Amino acid sequence: AALQKRYDLSRHDYAMCQTHMSSQNRLLIKNGCIVNADGMEDADVYIEDGVIKQVGRNLIIPGGTRTIDATGKLVMPGGIDPHTHFELEMMGAKTADDFYKGTRAAVAGGTTTIIDFVLPQKGQSLIEAYQNWRQKADNKVCCDYALHVGVTWWSPSVKKEMYQLVQDHGVNSFKMFMAYKDVWMLDDYNLCLAMEACSELKALPMVHAENGSIIARNSERLLAAGVKGPEGHAASRDDQVEAEAVNRACVIANQMDAPLYIVHMMSSAAVQSLCNARRVAKRPMIGETLAATVGTDGKLEIVTIMLGKFSLLYNPPGSHYKNACFRHAAAHVLSPPLRDPHTPEAIIDALAHDDLQVIASDNCTFNEKDKELGKNDFTKIPNGVNGVEDRMVILWQKAVNTGIMDPCRFVAVTSTNAANIFNLPSKGRVTVGADGDVIVWDPRLEKTISAATHHHAVDFNIFEGQRVVGGPQYVIVNGRVCLDDGDLRVAEGYGKFLPTPPNSPYMYGEVPTTPQPKRVEHEASPARVTNGTPTELQI
Ligand code: URP
Ligand code: ZN
Ligand code: ZN
Ligand code: ZN
Repeated sequence: AALQKRYDLSRHDYAMCQTHMSSQNRLLIKNGCIVNADGMEDADVYIEDGVIKQVGRNLIIPGGTRTIDATGKLVMPGGIDPHTHFELEMMGAKTADDFYKGTRAAVAGGTTTIIDFVLPQKGQSLIEAYQNWRQKADNKVCCDYALHVGVTWWSPSVKKEMYQLVQDHGVNSFKMFMAYKDVWMLDDYNLCLAMEACSELKALPMVHAENGSIIARNSERLLAAGVKGPEGHAASRDDQVEAEAVNRACVIANQMDAPLYIVHMMSSAAVQSLCNARRVAKRPMIGETLAATVGTDGKLEIVTIMLGKFSLLYNPPGSHYKNACFRHAAAHVLSPPLRDPHTPEAIIDALAHDDLQVIASDNCTFNEKDKELGKNDFTKIPNGVNGVEDRMVILWQKAVNTGIMDPCRFVAVTSTNAANIFNLPSKGRVTVGADGDVIVWDPRLEKTISAATHHHAVDFNIFEGQRVVGGPQYVIVNGRVCLDDGDLRVAEGYGKFLPTPPNSPYMYGEVPTTPQPKRVEHEASPARVTNGTPTELQI
């Protein structure tokens, strides 16, 4: 009851907790190889009432327990996707995936926790927007979820609401936009204030790092030159536009004594900015990338075109963005955009070597009729792609099957790191006491990704036709088998809201605070100097 009051868990959350406690869900996963971020071990896993109760060999198990044989399979923590947009209204459209279909697709792909973004309208109360999101999600989610809140405008009331969200509503992360000028973008001064508030609250600032002013001006110039199609989207925001903003975000966070989490990093240049900034950073600076950039690319062969006396980078026919089919081209529009064909390899390498720490989906799906809002003007194409279902199989195919990443690192970047960063200690590892969010991964399972068979509500899949080897055979969500040897059996509303406490040890622990500046007392006039020694006061 105290928890219910503290985090205003809905009656629904509370009822679900009770159901979990009283149900007889006992499950033994036998003969598998457990993969955690820090090692692999041949052991059995026993889950009861939604919690992992035993891990080891020769376990003593009550009668009537269901057994899953995981011989030859890997037993891993369920995926955590810390970046989704379900039921988001954006650019005059609404995403196809709602909290039911979106989390259903997540579970089908091995993800058992998602973190979605509350994005208030400019001028809207953050608390009101948060309550809206809770209402949309609570009765629909098939797996547990948490919420980040967007700081899409600034005033003293916004700061007050950030405090309330952290103290009373289980929010520990806020997203600020350096792009989407005149919609969600904060200028640098307000970005300082928002990051300073995060630092005071020991909450985590997250940033969409692209230079919104450059994008706005480039877009005007492209439109004026007659470039109106989706290719204009990529041309208006190249990797330098992203890398500059990454650097600026890092400098601002460091100046404000805040750690930083940069969402959807899409280029090598941006990763390089982050690596450079980390060398002088006082607190952790985390880089997130997306399934989209690992699994496909913009197929850009960059050429320079002249617009009067200006030059702009331009992607010629052959790229996704120049595809003759508007639907195909617009379906790949997301921000930052897909880059050249060398980028996936570089991004996977950065994930493998800890230059990047997290792979998310940024699942933000729009159907054809919505993408068509930008038929004659690329700036009006709703931004976003799919990924919540395919994130894990795509990374496995591109990074583990190719030998670039081992299964432990795969678990770290798809699950454990997000659990650490967002302070979800019951998630992200297969260990006694953790939530029963476990997947049985079959490294030989084969499938071809297609919009015809995916579980999303959207009519397009950016990974269409890709053959992947390795995938989830069983997905267990809080002890309930929701993908059962390939049969999807989710329950709408089964998931619960996860309050995320501030002061994540991973982001704020053991870091010395900046020494306070010393106050120097300046003499008013030379006449008052008697002994020639300036007085230095320590405060
Ligand atoms: O294109 C994108 N990334 N759409 C979702 C909104 C955002 O910026 O994350
Ligand atoms: Zn963004
Ligand atoms: Zn590096
Ligand atoms: Zn996003």
